[in-house]
Amino acid sequence: MNRRLIASTLGASLLAPGAAALADPMISPGITFIGMGGDGPMSGFSAGAELTVNHITDGRLFDGVHYGGLLQFELDFDGNFRLSAGGQAFGPFVGAELAWTVRFGDAPTANGVMLNPFFGLGYVNVAWRNLFDVDGYTPGAVVSLKVPVGDYGQILPSGRPLRDAHGAAHKPRVVVLGRRPLPAPAADLPMASRVALGRAWLEDARDEHAAVDAFRKLARQLAARGAPRALVRRALRSARDEARHARDCLNIAEALLGLRLALISPPVPDGPLPNLPTMAVESRLDGALAEGAAARVAALGARRATVAPAQRLQAAIAREEAGHAELGRAIERWAVEAGGAPVRAALEKAAPADPDAVDVGAVAPHGDEALWRRWGRASASERRDAWAAV
Ligand SMILES: [Fe+2]
Ligand SMILES: [Fe+2]
Repeated sequence: MNRRLIASTLGASLLAPGAAALADPMISPGITFIGMGGDGPMSGFSAGAELTVNHITDGRLFDGVHYGGLLQFELDFDGNFRLSAGGQAFGPFVGAELAWTVRFGDAPTANGVMLNPFFGLGYVNVAWRNLFDVDGYTPGAVVSLKVPVGDYGQILPSGRPLRDAHGAAHKPRVVVLGRRPLPAPAADLPMASRVALGRAWLEDARDEHAAVDAFRKLARQLAARGAPRALVRRALRSARDEARHARDCLNIAEALLGLRLALISPPVPDGPLPNLPTMAVESRLDGALAEGAAARVAALGARRATVAPAQRLQAAIAREEAGHAELGRAIERWAVEAGGAPVRAALEKAAPADPDAVDVGAVAPHGDEALWRRWGRASASERRDAWAAV
């Protein structure tokens, strides 16, 4: 058996529905297994890879209306390979692909056209292939195992950011475990609004999840620097608060997206133990300021929300984030007391980010502001105002 074929077969078994992040547009690589009829050069069994980039226009995330581009590569046992490029459209569960296809290798190069109706469920697509080239019409079947992947930028965090030794903030990756039914009232929302809201809550869940590790790390640093035990205990209690926030934000995101999700933290080494001036500045910027702003945003969300779980959660986050901001100020006071002049000098130089330069992250699509308020969300300008007001 061809070594590349073995590698892709092994890859397929490892990638089976699971390990994937969510993206919009949905960029979706997949591994393909192809059986072709006829007696042409690539008849019989081949395997390969594909990449689709889809926009989701309506309906639900995995069985709504998608359209986009398609690129496929496949290889058979005899050293022939095929490259196909085209487009696809996908309604609930069924779709069609139209692609230009070229066969290379030992056999003569052959151009052709494929028109493939397919059936898709979650991460598995099954297509009936209709290939037209110099050999005439050849039918076949293609099974694709899909892996949607994506990435996210930085936003005004809704929890203390987890920083590495160079100050860069890290967030957990999102893993899609499967689908779940949409509960009321999420089921009644238009798909685009529901996904946008779900992604905003998912970003909050990622921030809150990162904050768990940030507070554990802070507790270790406080203990190592000989801070009062009460401060260490408050940092550990804050980590437990953030774990609750992360879980509850993720629940709302899952309900809106109709997906079962998990968050996986990247390993972020502690690095060298920071000195007191550095700890004081970090506690002011990431603690007192960022968590103070997060508390204000959550309080605003709680006042206006009408969806009960969102309202309850924002009220709890507002209360507890305010406590975390106060812990930041308490750490600052302790550091000044223990470290004296160098700590005061560092704090004088520490400047918060300009509100206009803060990336406030996901905002309501045009026309959805009232809906977002009902789900406990604040607008971009309200998030900036909260940052400026702390
Ligand atoms: Fe939090
Ligand atoms: Fe917090």
